[in-house]
Amino acid sequence: MRAPLDLFCLLRRVGLESVGMIVFVMAIFMSSWALAQRKNASAGEIKQSTYAALAGVPEEARERKNPFEGNPQAVAVGRKLFEQHCAECHGKKAEGTRKAPSLLREEVQQATPGTLFWILTNGVVRQGMPVWSKLPEPQRWQIVTFLGSLSAHPMHANQ
Ligand code: HEC
Repeated sequence: MRAPLDLFCLLRRVGLESVGMIVFVMAIFMSSWALAQRKNASAGEIKQSTYAALAGVPEEARERKNPFEGNPQAVAVGRKLFEQHCAECHGKKAEGTRKAPSLLREEVQQATPGTLFWILTNGVVRQGMPVWSKLPEPQRWQIVTFLGSLSAHPMHANQ
């Protein structure tokens, strides 16, 4: 009668240990999964709100004409102004940094000059994009002209 009892005890001990092991592994797995979910959620939020301000620009402002449209000198001046004021956040070639999104993306490149001018004038302050109304209007248009010139260059187009 002893042998079956010992066997039962042995099985029970092994059983309990493996249950403990399974619980332990599951706890680790679930906490890393929860962590990954949280990371995904915050990355998703940034993506959704970025560029959203472009869609909120009033109709009238969108249709304003750029007085420097197609003016190569304005592109050159605009580039300098961009390096001076914008590059620290958006990158020297407007490619984006950890501080601010790329301005080469189609959301920005397809926006009208008037839309970009309005964004510069009003900022997207709550999202960290400053107001540039202190820059004289011609300078704001020159920067807009520079931004518009970027999509014309194939070397920028794939960013
Ligand atoms: C202090 C950092 C900072 C500087 C300097 C800055 N920006 Fe931005 N900019 C941002 C951030 C952050 C966003 C993203 C805002 C958002 O989430 O909508 C942004 C967004 C934009 C957008 C897209 C609008 C949108 O809906 O996101 C444009 C266009 C833009 N910036 C142009 C410029 C130009 C041109 C300059 C220079 C005159 C400039 N920015 C300077 C931080 C900056």
